[in-house]
Order: sequence, then structure tokens, then C-alpha cells
Amino acid sequence: MYQRNLKAPRFNPYVPGYFDNPYPFYQELRDCEPIHKSFMGSWVLTRYKDCEEILKHPDFSSDLRYWTGFEKRYQNKKLVAWMLNHNVLNVDPPVHTDLRNYLKKSFMPTSIDLLTKKITEIVDEKIGNLKAKESFDLISEFALAVPLTTICYIFDIPLSYMEQAKQWSINVSNLIEPLPEMSTLNGANQGIIDFAAYLKQRLEEKELEEDADDFLTSILNEPLKKLVDTDKYVLPNLIMLFAAGHETTVNLIGNGIYALLNNPSQMTFLRNHPEHIELAIEEFLRYDSSQQLAWRVATKEVMIGDHLFQPGEQVMLLLGSANRDPREFENPNQLDVTRSPNRHLSFGRGRHQCMGAWLARLQGKIAIQAFCQAFPDIHYDTDRTEWLSKLSFRGLKRFTIVNNEYFQ
Ligand code: HEM
Repeated sequence: MYQRNLKAPRFNPYVPGYFDNPYPFYQELRDCEPIHKSFMGSWVLTRYKDCEEILKHPDFSSDLRYWTGFEKRYQNKKLVAWMLNHNVLNVDPPVHTDLRNYLKKSFMPTSIDLLTKKITEIVDEKIGNLKAKESFDLISEFALAVPLTTICYIFDIPLSYMEQAKQWSINVSNLIEPLPEMSTLNGANQGIIDFAAYLKQRLEEKELEEDADDFLTSILNEPLKKLVDTDKYVLPNLIMLFAAGHETTVNLIGNGIYALLNNPSQMTFLRNHPEHIELAIEEFLRYDSSQQLAWRVATKEVMIGDHLFQPGEQVMLLLGSANRDPREFENPNQLDVTRSPNRHLSFGRGRHQCMGAWLARLQGKIAIQAFCQAFPDIHYDTDRTEWLSKLSFRGLKRFTIVNNEYFQ
């Protein structure tokens, strides 16, 4: 039987300062009440060991239909329920296994070299534009522009549709936030309708194209169709992949550059030792992950630590807190671009481990490396830098960089 530790703080993201720096709040919970019943009704877990155990546990599902509140929340939002019940992140084996294999096969590019070349071109073009400016917003003009253009390239979505596709997918991915408001659910519902219609039309066009060799074409391939019900599953997963393709990577790039600007010795080290970029990317992911949480629902009675979870109970795993747990990482609040090993949970763990980790790493590496080399003397304007108020996606809403070279 759960008895709240009255000395422990309550999980409350609405306290001032939370979104600027959630880590001290995580630390208090991690130390005082690592398995905490939140005001939202779900459990909040903050320790590395518990989060990892649940991510790997067969009796914790990410199928939200096990959650006792599912019907009530989504009863009038048919498209949202369709999306949530059929995308790879929210289904269990055996459907999950088939679907994941199907998507993985199509989503891997035939040539990594070609994709690397394309991402490098995108990065160089954006940097070229920024070089001409005294100051700029790193998020909209670089960190978002790179993954968004890349995912449009992979999906073969014309650049004239890029802004529209971005808006639809942002409306949909707001669903991952806890306690979405009615306006968020309505926006997501409409976003799914519009984006699904657009993608359906693109798939039909692809079917008519001769000798096409791209992601959407491989999605249409006959042998894959047999594995899953195309109408039910393909469109929700395309929407999910498109959204995942840019909404997290933008913040890997933004949060990584922010961390470096706040740790000048690490920035200098990385500029002088570009060969460390791969370890550095893992450290940016650990230190300030763009995805801060994962959801699961207990499908049976399960004991984690000294707590017995009941079937239907929902847990929120604070991956951002797990990544700063001193029980797992030495000096966890210190950015160390040479940290190794680095078993962060930013891409999750177990069967739902991120399918796009390779793409996020590739883009993060090319973008952050090129940016640090291209701008040797910059600072950010604190008055024009602001964090998003989101619990799941951690990132900067705006991040104004000033190029000091213009003022010398
Ligand atoms: C820095 C960037 C990224 C981060 C931090 C991130 C994080 C995550 C995490 C934590 C999960 C597991 C969620 C859970 O277990 O509940 C996940 C799953 C997933 N991610 Fe990512 N992701 C990133 C980039 C991407 C990209 C670029 C793509 C593809 C375009 C992608 C596609 C997916 C998919 C499809 C899943 C679901 C896999 C499954 O359920 O089997 N992600 N991601």
C-alpha cells in the first residue's frame, strides 16, 4: 500500500522555473520519492534502474488501451484513437514485431553515403545563410531547418509543402504531452485527417511513378503489405515517423549547442578535437535529452523496487532524470564530451527503443560539428532565449545567437 512521503516534494511542472531547468526538481524526487503518485493520477518514476526495468518489462505496455482512462479521454476523437492504436510506439507484440520489421526495412536508406552527402549540403547551405547575419534564431534558422528538410527529402515531400507538413505533425505530436487540453486533442484530430489525406495522395502518386527508388515507394512494396493491414497501419506510422524525424532532432542540435555555450571549455575541446564528436553527441543526449519521458501501463500486477503496480495504472518514466541519476553516472550534472561508457536512456530501451537513433545521431554529428567550426566566436542573448513549456519534448522555443565577429 502506497504511503506518500510527506517530506517529498510533489511533482509539479507548473512551478516557476521548472521548464528553464527541471533537473533540481528531478533530483529532489529521485532522492525523496523515486516512485511518486502525481496529481495527474499517473506514477512518476525518476531513478535510472526503475525506468530501465520498466522499459524492458514484458508486463508494462505502451498500448494505451490498457490504461483505465483511455476511453474517456479519446471517446470523441476517433482519429486520435486510430493514430494511437496503430502506430508502432503504441502497440505490443506480435503486431509490434511485424510492424517494426516492416518499417525498419523501408526506412533504412539504400545508401548512407548519399544521405550523409545530402545532410551535409543542407547544413552547409543553412550555415552559409547564417554567416551573413549579426544575430539569428538558431532554432528556426538552423536546428529545425536541418532535420525538417532532411525528413522531407526522405519522404520526397516537395519543399513547398514543408511548412504545412511541419504544422500538421506538430499538432499531432502534441498528443505525447500529459493532460492534453481539448484544443490540443481537436488540433491533433484535424492534423491527422489532413496529413493522412496528403500522404495517401503521395502514395497514390508514387504507385504511378516508374523506377522510383525511395522510402514511400518501398513502403508500397507488395511483400511488406502482407505483414500488416495497410489501411489501418501505414498512414499512422508515416505520420509518426515524419513527426519523430524532426521534432526531437531539432532539440538534440539546439540543446547540444546550448550546453556547449554554457560550458566553454567543452566547446574549445570539441573544436580542437573534432574526432570526439560521436562521444559528444551521446553526452548531449544524456545531459539534456530532447525527449524527457516515456509512458507505460501495467498489464498485470508488477513489483518494481518495493512498489506493487496494479493493472491499468499508468507510469511516466522521466528519462531526463534517469540520465542524471548519480547511481548510474559519475558527476551527472557535469557535461563531459569524453564520457564513456554512456548508457543514457534518451533513445529508450527494450522493444520500443528508438528506430531513428541512427538518423538523429548522423544529423546531430554533421550539424553540431559544422556549426562549432563555422562560428568560432559567438554568444547567446539570454533576453532572447526561452525554453518551451513542454514536459516531453525539451527544447528551446527561441535561441538567439550573436556573432561576435561582427562587433570587432
Ligand atoms: C534526438 C532525437 C531522438 C530522440 C531523443 C528519440 C527518442 C525516442 C525514445 C525515447 C523512444 C522510445 C519511446 C518509448 O519507449 O516509449 C523513441 C522511439 C521511436 N523513435 Fe525516436 N528519438 C529521436 C529521433 C528519432 C528519429 C529521427 C526518428 C525517425 C525518423 C525516430 C523514430 C522513432 C520511432 C519510430 C520510435 C518507436 C519505435 C518502437 O516503438 O518500436 N526517432 N524515440
